Amino acid sequence: MDRLGGTQASTRAVRFHQRIPPHRLMRRARRVVDDAIDLVRLRLDALPDGIYQPVPGLPVRKAKRAVGTGSRWAAMEPVIERLGVESAMDVGANVGYFPIKLAGRGIPAVALDSDPKNVRTATTAVRRNHLDNVAVMSLELRADTLALLPTTDCTIVLSLWHHLVRAEGFDTATHLLHELWARTGKVMFFDTGEDEMPEWFGLPRMVPTPDAWLSDYLQKTCAGGRVEHLGRHRAFDAAGLPTDRALFAVIREPS
Ligand SMILES: C[S@@+](CC[C@H](N)C(=O)[O-])C[C@H]1O[C@@H](n2cnc3c(N)ncnc32)[C@H](O)[C@@H]1O
Repeated sequence: MDRLGGTQASTRAVRFHQRIPPHRLMRRARRVVDDAIDLVRLRLDALPDGIYQPVPGLPVRKAKRAVGTGSRWAAMEPVIERLGVESAMDVGANVGYFPIKLAGRGIPAVALDSDPKNVRTATTAVRRNHLDNVAVMSLELRADTLALLPTTDCTIVLSLWHHLVRAEGFDTATHLLHELWARTGKVMFFDTGEDEMPEWFGLPRMVPTPDAWLSDYLQKTCAGGRVEHLGRHRAFDAAGLPTDRALFAVIREPS
């Protein structure tokens, strides 16, 4: 039976291969090898901290900011729907969770990040999700790279601003945010490290409360925008301890 079964199976396999043209077989073989290499790269790039966002399609058991990422998306999605967003750019996109979610809704999105490990993981995630409407961009946002950024309906600036303040100082970070807003057609989503961040980040004192200070700061920096508070969402501080951060939508008012 085994011999008979084995013979039948190998005959079927030969017929199957005879029906597939060699170039398609090559493509399939290439994909298998690519997948294996991507998987090794992915595991290496996830060291030592693991993956930050729970991106669909990646073999990750638990992302570091899984809860706060899912809850932010749940708060953002109705705004995106309501405003009829048709294009988006995520600055500091990490491994591409938000662009992939947007692309899944048919909204083409740019995922920009300065860390090559994140860029590689985002590229793999886009491929594994079979998406052809996400552009993964390897770039550090700075005053001299700003001109490379497109204008889109929706700009996502999540947990990036405190890094800009730390790297470039408050005034430059404010200038960069102002310029990102200028490239925003309908809505900008924003959150940041607040008073849980260590002093060496150089963040301003957010008084009377981070919610009030940030709301006022966004209102002043994003002229013609209306600031909506979208709740507080789980995050972690520089030492990895749990905290939460306010999420805002700045919505461009019709002029
Ligand atoms: C704390 S993570 C936040 C990731 C994501 N935006 C979120 O909230 O889920 C900050 C991300 O911004 C990226 N980043 C930091 N400075 C950047 C810069 N100047 N330009 C582009 N990306 C930057 C980091 O590589 C990292 O992926």
